[in-house]
Amino acid sequence: MCGIIGYIGYRDVVPVLIQGLEQLEYRGYDSAGIACLDSRKGNLFLAKEKGKLAALKEKIGDFNIDSHIGVGHTRWATHGEPSRENAHPHTDFSGQIALVHNGIVENYATLKKTLQKKKVRFTSQTDTEVGVQVIGRFYKKKTSLFQAVKQAIPQLRGFFAFVLFSKDDPETIIAYKRSNPLVIGLGQGENFVASDVTALLSYTRRVIYLEDEDIAVLTRNKVTVYSLKRHSWVSRPVTTVNWNVAQAQKQGFPHFMLKEMYEQPEVLRNILSKRIDRQGEVYFDTITKAFRKRLKKIERVFMISCGTAYHAGLVGGTAIQQYARVPYQAQVSSEFRYTNPMVGPEDLVVLVTQSGETADTLAALREAKSKGALVLAIVNVVGSTIAREADSVIYTHAGPEIGVASTKAYVAQLATLLLLAFYMGRLRRKLSRDAHRTLIREFKKIPDQAAKILKEHKRFESCAKKHYTRRNFLFLGRGYNFPTALEGALKLKEISYAHAHGYAAGEMKHGPIALIDHEQPVICIAPDSLTYEKMISNIQEICARDGIVIAIGTEGRKDLEKMADDFFCIPKTSEVFSPILTVIPLQFFSYQMAVLNGRDVDQPRNLAKSVTVE
Ligand code: G6P
Repeated sequence: MCGIIGYIGYRDVVPVLIQGLEQLEYRGYDSAGIACLDSRKGNLFLAKEKGKLAALKEKIGDFNIDSHIGVGHTRWATHGEPSRENAHPHTDFSGQIALVHNGIVENYATLKKTLQKKKVRFTSQTDTEVGVQVIGRFYKKKTSLFQAVKQAIPQLRGFFAFVLFSKDDPETIIAYKRSNPLVIGLGQGENFVASDVTALLSYTRRVIYLEDEDIAVLTRNKVTVYSLKRHSWVSRPVTTVNWNVAQAQKQGFPHFMLKEMYEQPEVLRNILSKRIDRQGEVYFDTITKAFRKRLKKIERVFMISCGTAYHAGLVGGTAIQQYARVPYQAQVSSEFRYTNPMVGPEDLVVLVTQSGETADTLAALREAKSKGALVLAIVNVVGSTIAREADSVIYTHAGPEIGVASTKAYVAQLATLLLLAFYMGRLRRKLSRDAHRTLIREFKKIPDQAAKILKEHKRFESCAKKHYTRRNFLFLGRGYNFPTALEGALKLKEISYAHAHGYAAGEMKHGPIALIDHEQPVICIAPDSLTYEKMISNIQEICARDGIVIAIGTEGRKDLEKMADDFFCIPKTSEVFSPILTVIPLQFFSYQMAVLNGRDVDQPRNLAKSVTVE
């Protein structure tokens, strides 16, 4: 987490840094800060504030500074409480170097002790300051900043990215990456570096994704990359990103989350048009012949991911099992990697991730690869680390998602995984041409059906108005919609801070039923499915105990509508597609609950969108 940015060029650096940090703020908002070099006075200008970027902006105000080189940071606190002292940028003991950091320097405590013995004074509790002090020790006369970084890095353990510059060398920015993402933006007479491409889109779409152990040296006119792994200067490919600035802006919506929810039909349309060829067959441009050959023979599938992506993995795994007849196991990445997983060359490990940078998912990928498994990444952010390290990647093409609570990226993951299931079904000859054709025909209706649900927003609003003061919610679902129950509960807690629990409806009688009384709202996800009648029995059990039923079902289901205190319907579709539709009312419900409770929808407390620490 944490968002970092650096700029060198001809523009006024402060607005460039602030604008970039606005785009990166989803990565953390405990504090924000910038450092730049005052061209007139040759001084280091440092401004930092606790809290959101708005506080920093207010502090800087119209402050006029003539500067064309600088770094900026938005923080998600790991070492040291959120405070002004702990805010980045940090400087070394000589006050020459200003550095911003994303990640963790794991051996910071030992290093700090050693430096303190040498009388180096520290002003913060951060591991970052240790990093910059170590670099500072190597940065002596006649040593360039690049050389200092090159010598200091081997002393630092952990996973992190740094961007820094020195007062002595106003023509250079240095960036270093180990595990945490860094992307260089290439301009004319200017260059940028940031944690994420969205911070660069206003200026350039030509980027270089740094690899682990790369040190990039940025001047106004040049970017060179040295690989510590290869002990040599290397050339990294330049990629043109197809995201645009508008996609990363609110465009009149009060929140990114709302805007992203409304984008869902378009995202789905886009995926279907990209992934289904003229013959109606599913097509993945990135899957090679060799990969396909192995995919055909795999014996088990592991769906590995975190948060919302984990819920998508559950749906995807169920579909792969149903249509390709391969058994699956879904696990959160942080558990998978520490359980010495029994995976091998005959297994497919599917990593689902919006950012492509989640630390635990990345570690799971490396674990799976080291054991010879076939590794496929389902990723939104093009060029991200997980996308690059997997044996193959399928992009979900949701466009930039800024709201911390994932919405459009989730439905894009669902759609992509279902297509993968059908693709594997055909490849393994478990899904007939006719059955496939019927599925695809039905799938093509989903974008319009999603749009229809979005039109019901007033009804979700009035339901949230009835319940927004309540603190406990139970979500129940079965089959393909058990993950929807988990996702609905996650959404609600993330942004409204109400306690919410997702459960398999069949398990209700083994515990959660004890919660039911006239004050307990239960959100029952009950579209037409194999287990519809079982769901109805569960709902009867809730009604019998006077619980409040908020039901999501298929249109025309009068029985369900009668039982429910509130009923939201989705258009008719097969069970396999229903999670794409049933989640939409839940997103709206959470959104309204958060708004009515006065929460910060796009930047909920303590969370960050891209979790690059373990
Ligand atoms: C964080 C985000 C979630 C996301 C999860 C996994 O918790 O807030 O929205 O689902 O990380 O992130 P990934 O980028 O791997 O999908």
